[in-house]
Amino acid sequence: MLAARLHGFGKADAVLRLDPLDPAPPGPGEVRLEMLAASINPADLNIIEGTYGQLPALPAIIGNEGVGRVAAVGAGVTTLRVGDLAAPLDPGSWGQSRTLAAERTIPLPAGIDPAQAAMILVNPPTAHAMLHGFAALAPGDWVVQNAANSGVGRAVIPIARSLGLRTLNVVRRPELVDELLALGADRVVTEETDLRTAGPDLMDGAHARLALNAVGGTSALNLANALAPGSPHVTYGAMSRQPLKIPNGLLIFRGLRFEGFWLRRWFADTPPAEQSRVFALLAAMIRDGTLRVPIHATFPLRDLHAALQEAATERRGGKVLLDLTVA
Ligand SMILES: NC(=O)c1ccc[n+]([C@@H]2O[C@H](COP(=O)([O-])OP(=O)(O)OC[C@H]3O[C@@H](n4cnc5c(N)ncnc54)[C@H](OP(=O)(O)O)[C@@H]3O)[C@@H](O)[C@H]2O)c1
Repeated sequence: MLAARLHGFGKADAVLRLDPLDPAPPGPGEVRLEMLAASINPADLNIIEGTYGQLPALPAIIGNEGVGRVAAVGAGVTTLRVGDLAAPLDPGSWGQSRTLAAERTIPLPAGIDPAQAAMILVNPPTAHAMLHGFAALAPGDWVVQNAANSGVGRAVIPIARSLGLRTLNVVRRPELVDELLALGADRVVTEETDLRTAGPDLMDGAHARLALNAVGGTSALNLANALAPGSPHVTYGAMSRQPLKIPNGLLIFRGLRFEGFWLRRWFADTPPAEQSRVFALLAAMIRDGTLRVPIHATFPLRDLHAALQEAATERRGGKVLLDLTVA
């Protein structure tokens, strides 16, 4: 089997290689997955360049999320059977085979689309956790977010809707407006819209109770201006690579709470039973099509470097996936 192994940090061409490796047979409590597909997320690119918050010991097979079919089970495994689909919980999914503890996988329901299931681990729980972890939101409350067409943004919209929340969504490109409305967004505007003046009209006279920021810079400030006093403004991404500049009055007079979210902290702080409950709910939403991310392009593993280049481009039509079934 081939696996994408990182030998240093820097430009992908120089540090990331496809290495031939022998698949390991599963020991007690383990399963071997024939990997089917994996996604390329911004965090994967940051890990390769060495700028992410937590870096693996090298050499390391990387790839934060993916999906595989159980090919063999070790002694004592009761949660998975040969043929089942599962998503590994730990990094290392950019390879054709993985052997790991059964309890370090998310068992997936029959009938789920493997390509969509390959995107379950990172963005959907991020959206779910941010909608639950920062404010006591009530049905009818507004949530405002930027990068609303991102993987996270597209998960926020249907999860918020399932909770009775309403979303005000900010995108960079007007052509995305109808697409996000069809996904269940309540309002979609472009970055040029000044939410300090236009926000209340857009939100039927209300202010948002939660802001989710994946961009930073002026876009982050625009979201802050749409918030009700005392509300949380949660930064989870920095796509523009611009820092937040917060006017003093938003802290003094409006009492806004500027916070951050990191999924790795959520995994560390959340009991396994609660993680399982959240992933079962998200898997059901993926299976019934409520949660769905467009796929911009799929590359065979041998074209890893072309796939990485494509994933690094802006204004994509969705996620870039690796097809792991062919070398
Ligand atoms: N903190 C956490 O635990 C956590 C978890 C998941 C994701 N994230 C972060 O969340 C962000 C989104 O991830 P994703 O996988 O959902 O992204 P994605 O699907 O790859 O989409 C990227 C989004 O960023 C926008 N974008 C790209 N470059 C930009 C720029 N220079 N200025 C403004 N917007 C820009 C894109 O807009 P266009 O389509 O117009 O280019 C698109 O909306 C990333 O920063 C990621 O690292 C963090």
